[in-house]
Amino acid sequence: MHNAPALVVTQLKLQMTDSVADRMMIHPCADAEAVAQYAANAVAESAAAAISARGVFHWVLAGGTTPKRCYELLRDADIDWPNVHIWFGDERCLPVGDAERNDLMADEALLNHVPIPPVQINRIVAELGPEIAAERYSALLADAPAMDMVLLGMGEDGHTASLFPGNPALDDQRLAIPVYNAPKAPPERVSMGYAVLNAARRCLIMAVGKGKAEAISRIRHGEYLPVARVENSEWLIDREAGG
Ligand code: 6PG
Repeated sequence: MHNAPALVVTQLKLQMTDSVADRMMIHPCADAEAVAQYAANAVAESAAAAISARGVFHWVLAGGTTPKRCYELLRDADIDWPNVHIWFGDERCLPVGDAERNDLMADEALLNHVPIPPVQINRIVAELGPEIAAERYSALLADAPAMDMVLLGMGEDGHTASLFPGNPALDDQRLAIPVYNAPKAPPERVSMGYAVLNAARRCLIMAVGKGKAEAISRIRHGEYLPVARVENSEWLIDREAGG
C-alpha cells in the first residue's frame, strides 16, 4: 500500500478545499460601484465598533486598483480618523513615491484627505528590499493587536496581497514575508502572512470584473488558491466576476 499516504493526503486536501468552498460568505454585488459602497460601509461600521470597544481601529489596506473607489468614498465618511491605525496587506519593492506603490494609491485616494496622524500609518519600507522591509514590518506587527478589519483584493490567478500560487511565501509563517519572483510586477514585494490575515476580526475580499471569474469559479469548485486560505472572510463579488 505504498500509495496510501498520497491517497490520504489528496482526500484530506479535497476535504479542506470543499469546506473552504462551502464556507464562502458571499455578498453578491451588482457592479464595481456596489462593491465599493458595501466595502466602505463595512469599514465605517467596523471602525465605529472598534473605537467604541477599544478606542482604536486597526485597518489593513488592500493594494491594486479594486479598493481605490472604496477609499475615495471613505473620504467623506463619519469616522473618528485620529483613532485609526493604518496597515498595508502588501507593498511592492519600489522607491517611495513610485506611481505603482500601493501606499501611493492609498495616499491619493484617501490618506491625504483624512486626519490620521502620520505616525499611525504603518508603511512597509519596501524601498529597502524584501528582507529588511519584511523584518521591520514583522517587528511592528509583533507589537500590534489583532487587526479589526482587513481589506483584500484577488488577482486573476487567485493570489491575494502578495501571496501567489506556487510561491514559497505561501508556507512562510512569518508575520510579514519577503516575496521574490512574483508573476505580477514588480517581482520583489513584501506581504502580510496568513498568521496576521487570519487573526483579523473581519476580512473583506473584493473581486470585480470578468477577469476574476475563473479564479472565483475554481475556488467555488474547491481549489485551494492562495486567497481561499484566508479564513472567515466575506467575499464582495460583482456580477461579472460571478457574484
Ligand atoms: C498588489 C495587490 C494585489 C491585488 C490583486 C488585485 O500589490 O498587486 O496587493 O494583491 O490586490 O492583484 O489587483 P486589482 O485590484 O488591480 O485587480
